[in-house]
Amino acid sequence: MRLDKFTASQKNISRKEAGELIRRGRVTVGGIAVKKPDMQIDPESDEIALDGMHILYRKNMYIMLNKPAGVICATRDELSRTVTELIPPELYRKGLFPAGRLDKDTEGFVFITDDGETAHRITSPAGHVEKEYIAALESPAKEIYPRLFAEGLVIDGGEKCLPAKLILTEDDRVVRIILREGKYHQVKRMAEAVGNKVASLKRVRIGGLWLDEGLALGECR
Ligand code: URA
Repeated sequence: MRLDKFTASQKNISRKEAGELIRRGRVTVGGIAVKKPDMQIDPESDEIALDGMHILYRKNMYIMLNKPAGVICATRDELSRTVTELIPPELYRKGLFPAGRLDKDTEGFVFITDDGETAHRITSPAGHVEKEYIAALESPAKEIYPRLFAEGLVIDGGEKCLPAKLILTEDDRVVRIILREGKYHQVKRMAEAVGNKVASLKRVRIGGLWLDEGLALGECR
């Protein structure tokens, strides 16, 4: 990879800005200021530094965000704040996008990456990656809900859902729901299909990854 491309991608600056830093001798390869933006380097093995600080090479970025309500799962929007706008500058880079969507009023785990293949694996219906939600309901949950969810609900418009898991909790207005697909407003529509309504919703798990409880709303890691 060219040294200017490496520097630009890892420091979230333009290729031109990276070239300037390199020509000024602020970027070193193996401790030597090479001053050649087109120098070929191996990002995996060369020791590259900016102003004496090692540049940690990250081929791709994988970010866990605890999304607050009021923020939308998009990269840009005229009116609303987006999940990528919550990424701190030290983690931000071009090409990041949310792998899958939560509704504007839903909180919790959003996975943001610039790795299209991994994003596809998480979101593809064929992948059946589990997503776990905690839903607060407007009316008490009924004993029969787990069976109805396990049988595969038909939601409005006649769409058939895959068998899903609903776990009752000590609080009869709070349930855990585990899905292996992601239809539009799916949890809310499933709740309506059993005669209830979601008051608030939070995603806590994607596949084997749990939302870090140490992340406040709006924080990333
Ligand atoms: N189901 C919903 O209804 N909304 C979400 O944001 C996620 C799942």
